[in-house]
Amino acid sequence: MPNPWFESVAEAQRRAKKRLPKGVYGALVAGSERGLTAEDNLAAFAEIGFAPHTAGLANEKNMAVTVMGQELSMPVMISPTGVQAVTPGGEVDVARAAASRGTAMGLSSMASKPMEEVIAANPKTFFQLYWVGDRDVMAAKVERARRAGAAGLIATLDWSFSYGRDWGSPFIPERINFEAARRYAPQVLTRPRWLWDFAKTMKIPDLTVPNMVATPGDKAPTFFEAYGQWMQSPMPTWEDVAWLRELWGTDKPFMLKGVMRVDDAKRAVDAGVTAISVSNHGGNNLDGTPASIRALPSVAAAVGDQVEVLLDGGIRRGGDVAKALALGAKAVMIGRAYLWGLGANGEAGVGNVLDLLRDGLGSAMIGLGKANVADLSTDDLVIPAGFERQLGDVAVANAMLSTSPAASRAREA
Ligand SMILES: Cc1cc2nc3c(=O)[nH]c(=O)nc-3n(C[C@H](O)[C@H](O)[C@H](O)COP(=O)(O)O)c2cc1C
Repeated sequence: MPNPWFESVAEAQRRAKKRLPKGVYGALVAGSERGLTAEDNLAAFAEIGFAPHTAGLANEKNMAVTVMGQELSMPVMISPTGVQAVTPGGEVDVARAAASRGTAMGLSSMASKPMEEVIAANPKTFFQLYWVGDRDVMAAKVERARRAGAAGLIATLDWSFSYGRDWGSPFIPERINFEAARRYAPQVLTRPRWLWDFAKTMKIPDLTVPNMVATPGDKAPTFFEAYGQWMQSPMPTWEDVAWLRELWGTDKPFMLKGVMRVDDAKRAVDAGVTAISVSNHGGNNLDGTPASIRALPSVAAAVGDQVEVLLDGGIRRGGDVAKALALGAKAVMIGRAYLWGLGANGEAGVGNVLDLLRDGLGSAMIGLGKANVADLSTDDLVIPAGFERQLGDVAVANAMLSTSPAASRAREA
C-alpha cells in the first residue's frame, strides 16, 4: 500500500481523481459556465510574488487568530460545501480533522450530516444558511442551529442559479435507486476502494440534506428537492440580512459570505454582521466575476476596521494564505483543498491538507521574516500593476447607509 500521506494539495487532487467515481469527482471540481472565475481564483494567486529577506529571519511562527469569537490555531478554516458522498463519514470526518488541528468548520445547510453530529465532533462549527423559504422557515432553522449549539451563523447569499458548464456537469442522482445504480455502475465499479469504504458501513451514499428541516430527525428532502425550494424562494433583501442577524442575536457571531463589492461590504456592516468573506463561491456562481483575492484589498480598506474580513477562493497552499493575509484578510476559508484531501484519504486526508497549509504558511513566514501572521503586509509582496479590482463605489455606499439600530451599533463599535 503506498504511503497515504501526500505532499501537496495538487497531489491530493490527483489521488481524489483516481479514487472517486467520475461523477463524485466532477461534483467537487464544480465551477460554472466557462470556468473563468474558478480559473482566475487560481491564476490571481500565481500573479502575486514574495519579497523575501535574507538574514535576520524570525524564529517564531505565531499563527493563532480569533475569528467570530473562536480561537483558531491558524488562520485557515473549513468553508461550507454542500452534500458530498465522498466518504461515509462526510462532514463529520471533516469536522474531526478540523478539530484535531484546532480550527473551525463551516457546515453547509446542503450537507449530508445533521448539524448535531457535526457540532459534537467540532464545537467550533458555524452553520451556513442559504435563503430558502420565507422568514418563518428561516427562523425555524436558526432555532435548530441555536439548540444544536452552533458557534455562529454564515449566511451565503451569492447564488445566481447559473446553469451548465462547458466541460459538462456530472450526473448526480436524485436518489440511489435502480436507475441511478445502473447509470453509476460503470464509474463506481472502476473505483473499488471507494465502493469498499461504503460497503464496510453497509450504507449507500446518502443524498438527502438533513439540515434543511427545522427538527432533527424529520424526513429530510433530497438535495434536488431542497434546490427546487431554494429556486422558488424570493431573493433576500438587505433588510432580510439585518433581520436574520438580529434574530440570531447581535451578541452572537454572524458572517455574510460572498461579498465582492465595496458597497455591499458597507451594507453588510450596516446590517450589523460580525464578519464577511470576500468570496465568489469558488467560481461556482456568476462566471466572469474576478478572483476574490483581486477584490480583497479594496474591501479590506473599506470595512476592515469595522468587521472581520476573511477570504475564500483559490487557496491551495500556505503561501496563498500568507498572500491573502498580507492583502488584508484576517483568515481564509478553504473549499476544494480539503475536499481533495477528503477524497484522497478521508479524515486523515483533510488533516493532511490542513498540515500542508500550516507548514506552507510557516515557510512563507520564515522567508518574509515575520513571527506573527498579523504582521504580514503588502511590503512582503510583489504585486503586478493592475492586479486589483475594486468592485462598486464606496461613496455611493456611504450615502446609502441606513440609520437602523444594527447600523448604529456597528458604527459605534
Ligand atoms: C463542491 C462545492 C460545494 C459548495 N457548496 C457550498 C455550500 O453549500 N455553501 C456555501 O456557502 N458555499 C459552498 N461552496 C463554496 C465554498 O464554501 C467556497 O466558497 C469555495 O469552495 C472556495 O473556493 P476554493 O474551492 O477554491 O477554495 C461550495 C464549493 C464547492 C467546490
